[in-house]
Amino acid sequence: MAVTIVPFGRTRAGEEVLAGRIENAAGMAVTVLDYGATIQSVCVPDGRGGRVDVALGYDTVAGYEAGDGYLGATIGRVGNRIGGARFSLNGEEYDLAKNDGENHLHGGLRGFDKYVWDMKAVPGGLACSRISPDGEEGYPGTLEVTVTFTLSEDDALAITYEARTDRDTPVNLTNHTYFNLNGGGSVLDHTLRLAAHRFCENGAGCLPTGRMLAVEGTPFDFRRPKPIGRDIGADDPQLRVGGGYDHSFDLDGGPAAVLYSAQSGLEMTVETDLPGMQVYTANFLSPRPGKGGAVMGPREAVCLETQLHPNAMNCWGFPSPVLRAGKTLVTRTCYRFARR
Ligand code: GLA
Repeated sequence: MAVTIVPFGRTRAGEEVLAGRIENAAGMAVTVLDYGATIQSVCVPDGRGGRVDVALGYDTVAGYEAGDGYLGATIGRVGNRIGGARFSLNGEEYDLAKNDGENHLHGGLRGFDKYVWDMKAVPGGLACSRISPDGEEGYPGTLEVTVTFTLSEDDALAITYEARTDRDTPVNLTNHTYFNLNGGGSVLDHTLRLAAHRFCENGAGCLPTGRMLAVEGTPFDFRRPKPIGRDIGADDPQLRVGGGYDHSFDLDGGPAAVLYSAQSGLEMTVETDLPGMQVYTANFLSPRPGKGGAVMGPREAVCLETQLHPNAMNCWGFPSPVLRAGKTLVTRTCYRFARR
């Protein structure tokens, strides 16, 4: 395993941004930026002598700073939405920034995706750390976070999230990579299998209501592999809310997802110890130039964001995201690649 760290650019404020590259003997290579602890590229050998970069992203720091799509980024302190940008904890009310209509999204006005982290090489990969101070974006407690990206010789990219707080606080860390197993173009002909017989019902603004709906007999049934585009245009109230799939699936256990493209022959399996996964078909990805100048746009990728269910602070019955003072949170998600 070769791990190298080289300069990538500078932020508007003049901070240096580094790119870490992990490459295995088989030729799979992953680039991680210390800006946002962001996965900038995932280049997977296609078995025919080429490599496909299966992650959408930008060539410049400016792209990441300007972009609103969280491409490849680590999301925190709390991924996805908190209704009304409010929660109560230990009898106290906390007000957060409303950066998505009336709701709080992906950590607020300046989430973890918009900071330069400390990055260093570790065995098999790269570790990114940052300290989120007490009161950052309205959250209580100083949170120490380390996100470690490792690559195995059999083409599995693992992300381990570790966090520790000095006061009780909600934490829900995820990664927001936009996957396209052909390297670009529509993602609608990729097939997807999801190990989930329920998903979170969304209300207005894609905010979970707290109810779970059965996938049975709905466009949300991916228990057998199905092209993402097969039912995405169905006249279904849940699909209308977010203009496509943008829902947290309640995972049954075992591999959470298998994504496959017949065009490239690449398959990606997602494994996680988390109970939920946001399946997001890039509905809000407005057209913009990405790597190599190629224009990216809606439905060009799918995000498979492993997480605790959104709005869990306000939905009784969802697994709690509260990390207690002095406790350490450790979760792991793995993206495993194969050729079929
Ligand atoms: C998540 C959300 C989407 C959208 C994207 C970022 O996946 O669920 O609604 O906000 O992030 O654009």
